[in-house]
Amino acid sequence: MVDIATQRKWDKVAPTFDLMAGRGAEIRWAPCKTELFSRMDGRVLFLALGTGLDIPLFPRGRDITAIDISPKMLEQAKPRVDAYDGNLRAEVMDVHEMTFDDGSFDQIFTSCTFCSVPRPVEGLKSLYRVLRPGGGLYMFEHTGSRYYPFKPMMNLMTLLTEKFGPAMNRTTVDNVRAAGFEVLEVNNIFLDVVKTIVARKPG
Ligand SMILES: C[S@@+](CC[C@H](N)C(=O)[O-])C[C@H]1O[C@@H](n2cnc3c(N)ncnc32)[C@H](O)[C@@H]1O
Repeated sequence: MVDIATQRKWDKVAPTFDLMAGRGAEIRWAPCKTELFSRMDGRVLFLALGTGLDIPLFPRGRDITAIDISPKMLEQAKPRVDAYDGNLRAEVMDVHEMTFDDGSFDQIFTSCTFCSVPRPVEGLKSLYRVLRPGGGLYMFEHTGSRYYPFKPMMNLMTLLTEKFGPAMNRTTVDNVRAAGFEVLEVNNIFLDVVKTIVARKPG
């Protein structure tokens, strides 16, 4: 069963998401996202495509299956999906209820996703299942900070932001490990908040 509350929350945000995401942030993070996405190879799963803001940063000619829980987000993404120069399919699917067979993908990419998935360790375990042994998980994520005063501030902010969008205090690196992945790289892009994480399913 799809998580209807989460789906509704993101459906509501969809029409104004591009405006709220902010052009400045998009430009600022583009170089490091482009570097991360340049590693796409083989059968790729992209989790939480949203309105497809990241699609122009994908390398050309890749074979990508993208999912998102929100049909409205994917409606917004359609022109970007259609414009992609490669094989890109977008489907409405909850990460907690994926219908793919075990080991279906060589790689999985996420971008600002595990601030939003309601049960992050379970969601990561689902990704673990559909990734082949030895396959890579590549993430661009914002997380909580470990440092004062940011940590308590982000805990407070999350009480509000989670009602209409993402959590600001996720411990995503720990969650990746808790789901069984081997963490290979953590690169801090802004403080210890915005980061790329590269992990591997052992085997
Ligand atoms: C902050 S937005 C990021 C969208 C896009 N990755 C970007 O960076 O522009 C979070 C996305 O996660 C999706 N999402 C939240 N929970 C999900 C779930 N359980 N399964 C799949 N997608 C989910 C939302 O619909 C939303 O599109």
